[in-house]
Amino acid sequence: MVKHVPGTLKKISVRNVRLGMFIHDLCGSWMDHPFWKTRFLLDDPRELKRLKSCGIQEIWIDTAKGLDASPSVPAVSLEAEEREVESLLREVVREEEENACAPCAFHEELERARAVHARAKQAVLSMFQDARMGQALQIGDAMSVVDDITQSLSRNTTAFLTLARLKSKDDYTYLHSVAVCAFMTALGMQLGLTGETLRSAGLAGLLHDIGKMTIPDSVLKKPGTLSEEEFALVKTHPRRGWEILKQAHADDIVLDVCLNHHERMDGRGYPGPVSGEELSIFARMVAVCDVYDALTSDRCYRRASPPAETVRKMAEWLNGHFDQRIFFAFVKVVGIYPTGTLVRLTSGRLGIVTEQTARNLLLPIVKVFFSANADAPIAPELVDLSAVQDAIVSSEDSAQWGFDWTALLGVA
Ligand SMILES: [Fe+2]
Repeated sequence: MVKHVPGTLKKISVRNVRLGMFIHDLCGSWMDHPFWKTRFLLDDPRELKRLKSCGIQEIWIDTAKGLDASPSVPAVSLEAEEREVESLLREVVREEEENACAPCAFHEELERARAVHARAKQAVLSMFQDARMGQALQIGDAMSVVDDITQSLSRNTTAFLTLARLKSKDDYTYLHSVAVCAFMTALGMQLGLTGETLRSAGLAGLLHDIGKMTIPDSVLKKPGTLSEEEFALVKTHPRRGWEILKQAHADDIVLDVCLNHHERMDGRGYPGPVSGEELSIFARMVAVCDVYDALTSDRCYRRASPPAETVRKMAEWLNGHFDQRIFFAFVKVVGIYPTGTLVRLTSGRLGIVTEQTARNLLLPIVKVFFSANADAPIAPELVDLSAVQDAIVSSEDSAQWGFDWTALLGVA
């Protein structure tokens, strides 16, 4: 949910940014540049210089809070961009859904998934701590974690992926690894990967960030803006991870994913230089999984972005950051309104998306519990949007409404 005066947001090229503009958002992953705060008045010439040199191509400005671009500057309004993203995502919906019905219901799988998640966290914690101490990595330990996660996803894709969203700032690195493992596995299944290839893709997700264990916590968990030196240090983690995994005799997929997980299709990622054509399917997969999980998680320098808003935001970055085919497959896994998303319906009711069982990604099952019109709670009810005359009008930020999505969904 974007808070602004309608009609005041414009996307312009970074070349046309000048002092006095209010930066509403940076187009591109927050992890790819050191401007951790994304909304600010640009009034410092040094920040303007950094902004123009950090690789960002486009920026959203809010003309109600700062200077406007001159009329000769090409600009896209938020409304036009939203229409374009909407039609892009609807293309995914039109494609036939093959895996719409999971063999096991969400709440049936939830408790088993919770146990798998707890074991996975412990295993990753111990492996990463070994790496921090310079001890050899036991890949076999990681394999059994991957197998457990794969089995849970095979029973119900959504249960484990929803639990994987639950992280605290302190255990972010470990639980992000568990989440990326699950997303890589679910995405691999969607893309038709099987057997040892699917296993390696999951393992690669689990271990992709192991190089972070060589970066001091004072930098990894710094709440403010990173200095250029600190950011340069963080950018060494793919190469350092590759070295740890090479020593542990990890397979080629795991090594490739670790080294290239911050690369981009337009060649502007790191450690580079690598062009899009050179990136393997696994490197393209992890780019999507890594960014989605990072954005939907609370970090020490910013709050989690709601999942549906994250899907839309990532769709805006398709020109450059991600492989389009891989991204669309990912949207089929998580949904356009991922489980746990607060949505407003045409009836004025608010509800939380509980399952993606419908054959249409725009029509999930929603548990309604609040009337936005009456501003009052209503009796909770499960509504299958594919079977009733009600539809989603918008996704909402549950934190801004003061609702705890984990309690509403029963995963707290
Ligand atoms: Fe990373």
